[in-house]
Amino acid sequence: MPDNKNIVVPGEIRPRRLRRTTAMRELVAETEVSARQLIMPHFVLPARKGREPIPSMPGIAQVGLDDLLRETDGDLKFGIRSVLLFGHPADGGKTRDGMAAAAANGAVQKAVAALKKSFGDDLVVITDVCLCAYTDHGHCGIPTKTGEIDNDSSLASLAAAAVSHAEAGADIVAPSDMMDGRVAAIRAALDARDFEDVSIMSYAVKYASAYYGPFRDAADSTPTSGDRKSYQMDPRNVREALREAWLDTAEGADFLMVKPALPYLDVIRAVREASDLPLAAYNVSGEYSAVKAAAAQGWLDEPAIVRENLIAIRRAGADQIITYHARDALVGGWL
Ligand code: PBG
Ligand code: ZN
Repeated sequence: MPDNKNIVVPGEIRPRRLRRTTAMRELVAETEVSARQLIMPHFVLPARKGREPIPSMPGIAQVGLDDLLRETDGDLKFGIRSVLLFGHPADGGKTRDGMAAAAANGAVQKAVAALKKSFGDDLVVITDVCLCAYTDHGHCGIPTKTGEIDNDSSLASLAAAAVSHAEAGADIVAPSDMMDGRVAAIRAALDARDFEDVSIMSYAVKYASAYYGPFRDAADSTPTSGDRKSYQMDPRNVREALREAWLDTAEGADFLMVKPALPYLDVIRAVREASDLPLAAYNVSGEYSAVKAAAAQGWLDEPAIVRENLIAIRRAGADQIITYHARDALVGGWL
C-alpha cells in the first residue's frame, strides 16, 4: 500500500462505481455464507418424547428423540447437513466423576444412533465431549480433594465419553473441556478401538466467557462453586490462542474451533492465518440471546443482524459456523 501522503489520488478513482446496482454488488462481493457451512446445535433429552423450551434462548428447546429426528429432517431439507449434540443425564445421574458422560444408553449416545439410522451419511453428527453436564459440581474436569480441577485424571473420563460417542456412530467428537492433552488422549483411545475414521473437532481456543450464560441454563451445567478460569482461556490473550491451536494440531485435531465468535473475530483471523486446518467458530448462546432479545423489543432487525453477524464470522476466516440461528436464517432466506 503506497503511503498516501506522497501520492496524488486522481479523482477518477471512484469506489462507488462498484456499489451502484445490486447486480454489480453481487459481482464484487467477497464473502459468502452457505448452508453447507452451518452447524445446528441440539440439546437432547434422555427420553423419546418431550420438549422443554429454554427461556433464555427463545426458539431453542431441549428435545426428546422424536422431536430431534423431526427437526433434523426439516433442517436437512433446507441444507443443514451437520448437527452438534449436547446432553445431560437422567435425574440423579450426576456424580463427582461425571461417569454418566460415557453411558452407552445416555441421551447423546441414543440420539447419535437414531440420527445415523435415519439419515446415514447424509448427516454429519458431531458430539460435544465434556463432563460438566454430568458432574455434580458442574466443572468440565474432575476435582481433587482440595477442589482444583485435576487435568490428568480427567483425561480418561473424557476419552471414555468420546469412545462411547464413536461407538454410537458419531462422525466427529468435539472436546470442549479445555484440559491439556485431551486431543492426544482422545485420539489414542479412539484409535485403540479402531475408530481411526472418527474426526476430532477441538474447541482449541475457548475463552472463559460470560457469553455462555444461557447455554448453562440449557445444559444445566453451571459450576456449583468457582468458575472455569483455571482451564478456559483469558479473554485478554491472543498469542496464547496460537499456542493452543498449535498444540491441538500437533496432538491430532482434524478441525480447530474458536469460541465465542463475534467478540473474538481477531482471534479467528489470527488462527486462520496460522493454521491450515478447517476452522470452526462457535456463535454461542449469549450472542444468540442478545440478538433475540433486542429483536423482540423491536430494537434490531433480526434477519439483517443475523446475516451481518454470520458474514462477519466468515470474513474473519471461519470455515464452519456453529450457530443457533442456522434454521431461522435458512428458512427465512436471510443469507
Ligand atoms: C461445556 C460447553 C459450554 C458451551 C459449549 N460446551 C459452556 C461452558 O463451557 O461453560 C457453550 C456453548 C454456548 O454458550 O452456546 N463445556
Ligand atoms: Zn464443560
